[in-house]
Amino acid sequence: MEKQFKRTLITTALPYANGPVHIGHLAGVYIPADIYARYLRLKGEEVLMIGGSDEHGVPITLRAKKENVTPQDIVDRYHFLIKKSFEDFGITFDIYSRTTSPTHYQTASEFFRILYDKGVFIEKTSEQYYDEKSGQFLADRYIMGVCPHCGNDQAYGDQCEACGTSLSPTDLIRPKSMISGSIPIMKETKHWYLPLDKYEPFLRKWILEDHTEWKSNVYGQCKSWLDMGLQPRAVSRDLDWGIPVPVEHAEGKVLYVWFDAPIGYISNTKELLPDSWETWWKDPETRMLHFIGKDNIVFHCIVFPTMLMADGTYNLPENVPANEFLNLEGDKISTTRNRAVWLHEYLEEIPGKQDVLRYVLTANAPETKDNDFTWKDFQARNNNELVAILGNFVNRALVLTEKYFGGKVPAASGLTDYDRQTLHDFIHVKRDLERLLDTFHFRDAQKEAMNLARIGNKYLADTEPWKLAKTDMPRVATIIHIALQITANLAIAFEPFLPFSMAKLNRMLNVEPLGWDRLGLTGLLEAGHQLGKTELLFEKIEDPVIEAQVQKLQETKKANEKANNQTKPIRETVAFDDFGKLDIRVGTVLACEKVAGADKLLQFLIDDGLEQRTIISGIAPFYDPETLTGKQVCFIANLAPRKLKGIVSQGMILSAEDTDGKLVVITPEKFIRAGSEVK
Ligand code: 2FM
Ligand code: ZN
Repeated sequence: MEKQFKRTLITTALPYANGPVHIGHLAGVYIPADIYARYLRLKGEEVLMIGGSDEHGVPITLRAKKENVTPQDIVDRYHFLIKKSFEDFGITFDIYSRTTSPTHYQTASEFFRILYDKGVFIEKTSEQYYDEKSGQFLADRYIMGVCPHCGNDQAYGDQCEACGTSLSPTDLIRPKSMISGSIPIMKETKHWYLPLDKYEPFLRKWILEDHTEWKSNVYGQCKSWLDMGLQPRAVSRDLDWGIPVPVEHAEGKVLYVWFDAPIGYISNTKELLPDSWETWWKDPETRMLHFIGKDNIVFHCIVFPTMLMADGTYNLPENVPANEFLNLEGDKISTTRNRAVWLHEYLEEIPGKQDVLRYVLTANAPETKDNDFTWKDFQARNNNELVAILGNFVNRALVLTEKYFGGKVPAASGLTDYDRQTLHDFIHVKRDLERLLDTFHFRDAQKEAMNLARIGNKYLADTEPWKLAKTDMPRVATIIHIALQITANLAIAFEPFLPFSMAKLNRMLNVEPLGWDRLGLTGLLEAGHQLGKTELLFEKIEDPVIEAQVQKLQETKKANEKANNQTKPIRETVAFDDFGKLDIRVGTVLACEKVAGADKLLQFLIDDGLEQRTIISGIAPFYDPETLTGKQVCFIANLAPRKLKGIVSQGMILSAEDTDGKLVVITPEKFIRAGSEVK
């Protein structure tokens, strides 16, 4: 028997407040959660939807460092921007709070303390990288070095972004502190660990046996984690940004961001409902659902449930309908590279079109695999579906009512078989939509709703009421009556998906929002009911709007490429003795000419103070050889000779290279005796 619940608690991943929110956030988490919450509310169910900003963690401290401001400045800036974007897109949180709120500090500290007092944690001392220069332990993201797998010298302590391998800081070759640039040492530090291994047998049964209905991407990821075997996980960090570990002798230690963030769901419920929050978290008749993206699966299916279980008084989630990732025009969305469609910018540049984006992101939602957002598809779905199918049908039904019946719903009489067949077709919509929504198939559910508009369009196209106006008004009345019932059904079916447009449609129909239980009925608008003013629901999006967005993305790409051309980081320190091994001298250029058959090479004849020597240098693209004759250059005099294009080069001319690869020869500031040493 399926469990029966009285109410549903919907949690939505708390986005990091280290940047604005983008289409990937909406598509992955907030639109599906909002569709679901709206659907349940329309059904009259008791629902709570919890949101908030995740304001701890290294990405925030890194951003603050980069901008030379405090982490608090960063989270204040983005929390309010994020909150506003969600409001603007009609995401109906019951509360959107933040993990720097006093309620959260208290709730998270108490949560830790209860587990601590129960003896749940293992206290363990281990060696971790420590930056002596800045006097702090280094979070994984604060250490950079060479990736042992691909040789990328910009790999982070937790991951190499070039080859995607996840790393631990000790894997890095030549690790370097990103705070001071110094080489970190290993130093002992104490932390508290959650013994996931102890809970593994329970988790195996709870997920792999009792929740086989979870989405296959979620179930599969859990299974592979469980099959690898769970290890104890540290829930504290040595950082100065976060919630202090609430026990004695824990100076400089804070709760790991992934320990405090999910507790944020509890804190925010508490902030909203200080007296009844426990009903939502502890009453077995409450069903909890976590809406998240795929990178959060392990935390919501394994770590957080373990924390809740270790406390012992909380419910566990019933389902975790995680989505995969959305890409943008074939590439990853990236906050740090500014490669995204930011919600606040979308609204400025394409104002009033929240529902269009909601529609496209649902039609393309990454429900079972990563998906791609393209501006062409955005335009096509707007013009060919929202405008041509839904908007067109609604507009025709309303305009015909105005034209022939003064905007009043006409009465139906004498239904034909075809009328009956049409009514029969849309009676099933409710059941089909429910089946899809109840199993989190939002893409298909939206398609099903659009099918209802297709049925309407076909009905009007087949019956052609405009041709009958002169001869058979009772027939026209019946057709329009039916078309209007379909329109009213659309207003219910699309409410969870397109709330702004359906509010407008309700105004045009001059009705209060109709409840879900009326979906599929044929008498929603009674004969004689006066409709409101007809407006267009959707409008075509023209090419220049789309082209501007595509161009904007290309410009970001160019800017990124340029930014990547930045000054290279300083290389590994060398001992003074190593420097002393190089014999750098000033030489006078006696002759200089191009090397035949080599575009890049110049051949120099140099007076080195003792004799003449030949040196080959790759600076031909930047100099006319004649202009160099008579000048002085610096060169490495004791470099082992090398043969280039059949000529033996006895040394190397020093030049400086700009980020674009341009070379400039280094010359002494004044004329000096050839052979002088450079020190
Ligand atoms: O991945 C993220 O953006 C995290 N800030 C999600 C946290 S979800 C929850 F635990 F709060
Ligand atoms: Zn790598």
